[in-house]
Amino acid sequence: SVVPVILSGGSGTRLWPMSRPERPKQLLALTAAETMLQLTVRRAMPGPDSTLDFGVPIIVANAAHADLIESQLADIGVRDSRILLEPEGRNTAPAIALAALAARTPSDALLVMPSDHVIADLPAFHAAIARALPLVEQGWLVTFGITPDAPETGYGYIKTGEALEPGVHRVDRFIEKPDAARAAAMLAEGGHAWNAGIFLFRADAYLAALETHQPAMLAASREAIDNARRDGLRLYPCATAFGACPSDSIDYAVMEKADKVACVPVYMGWSDVGSWDSLHAISATDGANNSLRGDVVALGSTGCIVHSDGPTVAMSGVKDLIVVVSNGNILILPRGQSQDVKKLTEALKARD
Ligand code: GDD
Ligand code: MG
Repeated sequence: SVVPVILSGGSGTRLWPMSRPERPKQLLALTAAETMLQLTVRRAMPGPDSTLDFGVPIIVANAAHADLIESQLADIGVRDSRILLEPEGRNTAPAIALAALAARTPSDALLVMPSDHVIADLPAFHAAIARALPLVEQGWLVTFGITPDAPETGYGYIKTGEALEPGVHRVDRFIEKPDAARAAAMLAEGGHAWNAGIFLFRADAYLAALETHQPAMLAASREAIDNARRDGLRLYPCATAFGACPSDSIDYAVMEKADKVACVPVYMGWSDVGSWDSLHAISATDGANNSLRGDVVALGSTGCIVHSDGPTVAMSGVKDLIVVVSNGNILILPRGQSQDVKKLTEALKARD
């Protein structure tokens, strides 16, 4: 079966002040009535419209969010799941290691999904998974490739090599978060895809790749699982063992290094909801390209994204602004500059 592994441990600082440590973006309803986590779990549930044999999902998240996660799963009728709770985040490579070690059978195919994405075309996603499964059985680590349309520096880039079957390629090189010049060069050269951040591989294939490229990470994660404490649906890996685990993302720690990596292209209306600008790009807008949520009056204003969780926001004659009122904080910045929110949250933290 295909076991969904949902990564839900990020801090989501770029969506401050809505996203906060107590409730990061994946636990918020940002793009629909349901939270990003709930939408992600729903993408891989058995149902009449899917021929894929999805198993019980594994959620890997921070221990601080255990109650919220359990209640959000219950709200969408998911009673059976496994929740792996990290005492503190060690980034995605160890988070996935915990899931692979906790998998019921080594031959389980793990579908690793971040919980900060929007996927508009679910059948296209499922078709890509079905296409990838035979490769997964042969031990390939499968990535899903998105056609790039801008020199984004926040993504991984995949240089596609030899065709393994029509449209499916071996990955020649995997380049995580290139600088702007390198991103532009890869876009101009062609033959590169963005890494969607979604992966499919057998649990044992991932563990073997860790054994080769990250033995210390594997050893610490294994010790953490071997000494884990169980509590209902929850599994608490041993804090001392996991605390000693090196911290790195799967992209740098494994994908840039492993050699049996394949890329299946997907055209599924994918976006990473990484910032206020990307949220504006995927939100419904009015005739003046404004996306307004909460009690907002905007006269003669265009291209704005405004969210308020209570106070009335009245604005007139402004253009391309991001205004967010949330949890007693107010964020104002021009559209196009929302990557600066991370810097702002750091500046605020330094002040405390
Ligand atoms: N459990 C757990 N623990 N989850 C984590 C941790 C952790 O320590 N750190 C991050 N996550 C979760 C986040 O909540 C998110 O859902 C997912 O893992 C990916 O982390 P991001 O921090 O959002 O990664 P990224 O967006 O910078 O980069 C990744 O995704 C891009 C596409 O969106 C990479 O895979 C890139 O190559 C890719 O292009
Ligand atoms: Mg992301």
